[in-house]
Amino acid sequence: MSNWRPWTLGDLFEFLTTDMPPKPKERLEVSAQNYADILAFMLDKNGFPAGNVELPTDFEPLSLIEMNVDR
Ligand code: HEM
Repeated sequence: MSNWRPWTLGDLFEFLTTDMPPKPKERLEVSAQNYADILAFMLDKNGFPAGNVELPTDFEPLSLIEMNVDR
């Protein structure tokens, strides 16, 4: 969280989709939906409240959601 607090969910999603897993070939096996599901899991495990709808699967709408919380 100390890395991500000043950023948005869009930034974290962008990091996951461009850097994780580190091998580009392995990233091809992970869909945008997979990444959004992993992101939702990570938020849940870190104590963030669930929303009413599923997380979007692209940068723009996710970048509207800040992670600026004291955790
Ligand atoms: C879909 C699968 C994966 C997800 C969602 C994921 C997610 C993450 C996240 C959230 C971080 C932390 C970034 C931070 O500290 O702010 C991270 C770091 C890291 N991950 Fe992954 N990861 C995945 C797969 C992998 C795999 C397969 C490997 C190695 C073979 C790997 C190696 C690393 C390394 C070395 C770091 C540290 C990078 C750094 O500090 O610069 N990851 N990953």
